[in-house]
Amino acid sequence: MAGGRPSTGEDQLRTTLGAIAGRWTSILLITALTVAVVAAVAAVVPRQYTASTDLLLLQVDEAGSAGSPGERAIASYAAVLEGRTLIGSTEGATDVEVRATPREGADVIRLDVRADTAREAAAAATALGNRFAAWLDLEQPEAGPQVSSQVISPAGAPDSPSRPDWPTWLAIATVVGLVVGSVRAVFRGVPPGVVDTSAQAKEILGAPVLASVATDPDVRTRPLLSDLEPHHPRHEALRILRTNLQFLDVDQAQQVITVTSALPGDGKTTTTCALAQAIAETGRSVVVVEGDLRRPRLAEMFGIERTVGLTTALVGRIPIDEAVQASGTPGLDVLTSGALPPNPTEILQTTAMARLVDGLRDRYDVVLIDAPPLLPVSDAALLAALSDGAIVLVRHGRTRADELELAAERLRAVDATVLGTVLTMTPRREARRYGYGPEGSTSSRQRGTRRAAR
Ligand SMILES: Nc1ncnc2c1ncn2[C@@H]1O[C@H](COP(=O)(O)OP(=O)(O)OP(=O)(O)O)[C@@H](O)[C@H]1O
Ligand SMILES: [Mg+2]
Repeated sequence: MAGGRPSTGEDQLRTTLGAIAGRWTSILLITALTVAVVAAVAAVVPRQYTASTDLLLLQVDEAGSAGSPGERAIASYAAVLEGRTLIGSTEGATDVEVRATPREGADVIRLDVRADTAREAAAAATALGNRFAAWLDLEQPEAGPQVSSQVISPAGAPDSPSRPDWPTWLAIATVVGLVVGSVRAVFRGVPPGVVDTSAQAKEILGAPVLASVATDPDVRTRPLLSDLEPHHPRHEALRILRTNLQFLDVDQAQQVITVTSALPGDGKTTTTCALAQAIAETGRSVVVVEGDLRRPRLAEMFGIERTVGLTTALVGRIPIDEAVQASGTPGLDVLTSGALPPNPTEILQTTAMARLVDGLRDRYDVVLIDAPPLLPVSDAALLAALSDGAIVLVRHGRTRADELELAAERLRAVDATVLGTVLTMTPRREARRYGYGPEGSTSSRQRGTRRAAR
């Protein structure tokens, strides 16, 4: 069996890139939607037009020689051009936006005037240029150097609007769409450290993936297969599991099987009961045994009495045949917990328990033990050791690789055989990616299995 993979930066990068590559269609869709929304907004915002003109500033001193007014003076003239005083006193320029930018390395100011129409913008730019020239004439002291302004490129009416700025808006929308789509893809993926692919589960447990059971929103109200129609996805998944178990059976009989997982709430009880029903559907006799003597749930699942069961039989008060109860599904019996003992771990290690399992082996075609989780207590490992093998569930998006490692170690420590793993609560849309992951998409074996399962 391969060892564990520590979570490295490289792993995380691979996971992130994998999530993006795996969801590129939704990323493109989000980008297209963002661009469409921005384009729709751009189509309705009022258009504006910008007309531009260049003003050359020339300084002539008292001796009549021409020179530059200097950087500071040019910056001040730009401020004058943008100031409300000049704009307010220029006919046709009162409702426009003005930007005056000194051109670097030249005595030139670029004047950009934005208005609601192209003609208005051009007229206002021309008027403002003229008004500025007049202002220079009027406002300068008579003595000292004189600065004058000349239009070196007159303002023409622009052909196309400057607002909305389509190229910029669309470029920003594309970038925002790509970023939002990628972040969503990464965060919708499994959190770092969590088992992400069937190949990883297989590698850690050293056993094949037997099935993938998708999240079923109805599971609380309809946990049993008998509650579901035959073509319900969960029913089909359980049939695949049943068939794959039969494939394992070809070499070596797997009659007593413990179902467990690393932690509570991974779907063990739900899966065990449904699997038992799926096996009973084929006409074989099955018994489900309550292996969780701390928080038993089997009786509740089948709606039967809990007070008579495993512990009642173990302490010898009644024979096995009287301890098991009919489940309501033909061919399927249930051995509930019986009274809860104060020392479950010790009870499971007794020879009486081993004898009880042998007794069930003699009476039923298949014995399924619904075990507690492996990590919190040693009960599940003990039950797996009494069985022909264990099925270890891996819950999508929750079972961590390091916890699964530890669970596998617990089973190895008692020489238990891991028959395989079942992925539970996989996202329905991702069931294929997750369940039949990078080992080679939907393998021919699994496709064959699907057919065989019907
Ligand atoms: N395929 C599924 N889709 C959605 N919910 C599920 C599915 N399988 C199980 N659940 C839900 O997950 C919860 C835990 O399930 P279950 O009791 O079977 O887990 P468990 O591993 O036996 O837990 P514990 O370790 O406490 O015994 C339950 O609320 C159950 O309804
Ligand atoms: Mg349980």
